[in-house]
Amino acid sequence: MGLKSENIITFNELSDDDIEKIFSQAEKLEPIARGKKESNRLEGKILGSLFFEPSTRTKLSFKSATQRLGGKVIGFSRPEVSSVKKGESLADTIRTVENYCDIFVLRHPQMGSAKLAAEVSEVPIINAGDGAGHHPTQTLLDLFTIRKNFDRMENLKIGLLGDLKYGRTVHSLAYATSRFKNELYFISPSGLEMPREIVNDLSEEGKINETSDLEEVLPELDVLYVTRVQKERFSDLSEYKRVKDSYKVDLDLLESADQDLKVLHPLPRVDEISSEVDTSPHAKYFDQVFYGVTVRMAILSLLL
Ligand code: NCD
Repeated sequence: MGLKSENIITFNELSDDDIEKIFSQAEKLEPIARGKKESNRLEGKILGSLFFEPSTRTKLSFKSATQRLGGKVIGFSRPEVSSVKKGESLADTIRTVENYCDIFVLRHPQMGSAKLAAEVSEVPIINAGDGAGHHPTQTLLDLFTIRKNFDRMENLKIGLLGDLKYGRTVHSLAYATSRFKNELYFISPSGLEMPREIVNDLSEEGKINETSDLEEVLPELDVLYVTRVQKERFSDLSEYKRVKDSYKVDLDLLESADQDLKVLHPLPRVDEISSEVDTSPHAKYFDQVFYGVTVRMAILSLLL
């Protein structure tokens, strides 16, 4: 069984076969994720959960996934309570905690940190977000949600809206959705466009449209993936204030959307989707939260 690579650092090292394995496992694990069946598949295994940045869903869904499968979790969610506070490096932290666990989930503000950790670690590393870099397990659950709703992951028109510059979820998702031959729409306020190297990489793969005009492209879309402005990545707060209210998805706007449009969001949401949208048939972001558990259960069981 297993996956092609022993770590998950970016989406790109996952093969199509890996993705298929993860999704078919995730389907099977659903009753366990809902607490309707028990499993001891990860009995005797310990997840090292190292979060150097805030998290609700990623951290707790990995924890829930591990515990539902009979494993245990150690770690920290605030670096201030670890020896990092005394000046210990990430590499030394990894070389230490690897003695206590079988696999790591790492979230860190520095781009490239997960790759660095994988270079020194004796146990597998799962990247749970490296600064403005990548977030591959989020992308797996996003793709899984898309497949659940459309029965396919290709030939869709997918809009990525918001902070495409700093948003790691949209970086990983752009690679993933373009691999499966979808038409992509990058919709962002000026200054928050998708990084040029990603656009260049993907332009060779398929059709990409870039715009700042959500209303114009909305009627075309099958999926609208909304993201918040990543306040913590701005060095200039006045720049954040300039862009923070520049888009909002509400019922009024969605009048012009296709009736089968699915609205996704990795969450947390700030103000970019009005709460009135939550009960509309478009809203799929709380379904994503649940699939986060099944998909992460599948990833853990395949890597271990
Ligand atoms: C995202 C992240 O941390 O990149 N959250 C998540 O993992 N669901 C999105 C965000 O913080 O905006």
